[in-house]
Amino acid sequence: MTLACLDGAVVPIAEAHISVTDEGLLRGDGVFEVLRLYEGVPFALDEHMARMSHSAENLRLPLDIGALEEDIRSLLAEAHPQDGVIRAVATRGGRRVVLLEDLPDLGASMSLGFVTYSPTRVLDGIKSLSYGANVLASRLARERGHDEALLVTPHGRVLEAPTSSFFWVRDGRVFTPPLDDHLLDSITRRLVVDTIGADAVATTREDVLAADEAFLASTLREVLPVRAIEDRQLPVDGPVTSDAGTRVRDRIAALLGSA
Ligand SMILES: Cc1ncc(COP(=O)(O)O)c(C=O)c1O
Repeated sequence: MTLACLDGAVVPIAEAHISVTDEGLLRGDGVFEVLRLYEGVPFALDEHMARMSHSAENLRLPLDIGALEEDIRSLLAEAHPQDGVIRAVATRGGRRVVLLEDLPDLGASMSLGFVTYSPTRVLDGIKSLSYGANVLASRLARERGHDEALLVTPHGRVLEAPTSSFFWVRDGRVFTPPLDDHLLDSITRRLVVDTIGADAVATTREDVLAADEAFLASTLREVLPVRAIEDRQLPVDGPVTSDAGTRVRDRIAALLGSA
């Protein structure tokens, strides 16, 4: 993608620079959102802007969210992307950055490995730029031969994946770890819960190793089947996961159609 928007100006990406002294870079002090574009239309724009505004408020970061939304619209108007990803960033240095990215190839299913992780309490309710721990967790899982990490607290509570929510199925019922366990309030998690119904329950390693099916949910992945957790194999085309995938995709299409 060749264009970016920096503080309201649409510029070639090679000319979009911010200072090396920006605390967003030096300390991960800033907030971000990732949105998916469907035929040029950002899905759930209002929800992402609301979450970013909330993140900024919680981080005590001044952010003109109306200006940021306008940045997104200006970039879309000039770049005319179709399917892809929008990344919106706001830094402590006071910069607003909007980038367009290609949709990454996430595959048709994922294998997950447990990685021990403690959410940083003070960052609850903040999608901050401090994502080093999440990125490292994915890397550690990949080093062990898995596609992605499944984050588990030192006390054995299963939380989520580093950039997606987690759902598991037992006897036809769908479960997901509760937001009280310091998860990100994922927009896709809300959509899945609204569309197919799922119970938020404290979830252990044993629960997920005994699950009949499991899937991840995120803006980029929609619903993505989990084919293994550690050594335990799971069906990629389980009935509940397949149904969730279809219904969530249909719901996204319907919401885009009515926007
Ligand atoms: C920690 C974490 N959980 C879940 C998600 C999924 O959130 P959403 O559905 O809003 O994309 C993300 C997205 O990046 C994330 O970073």
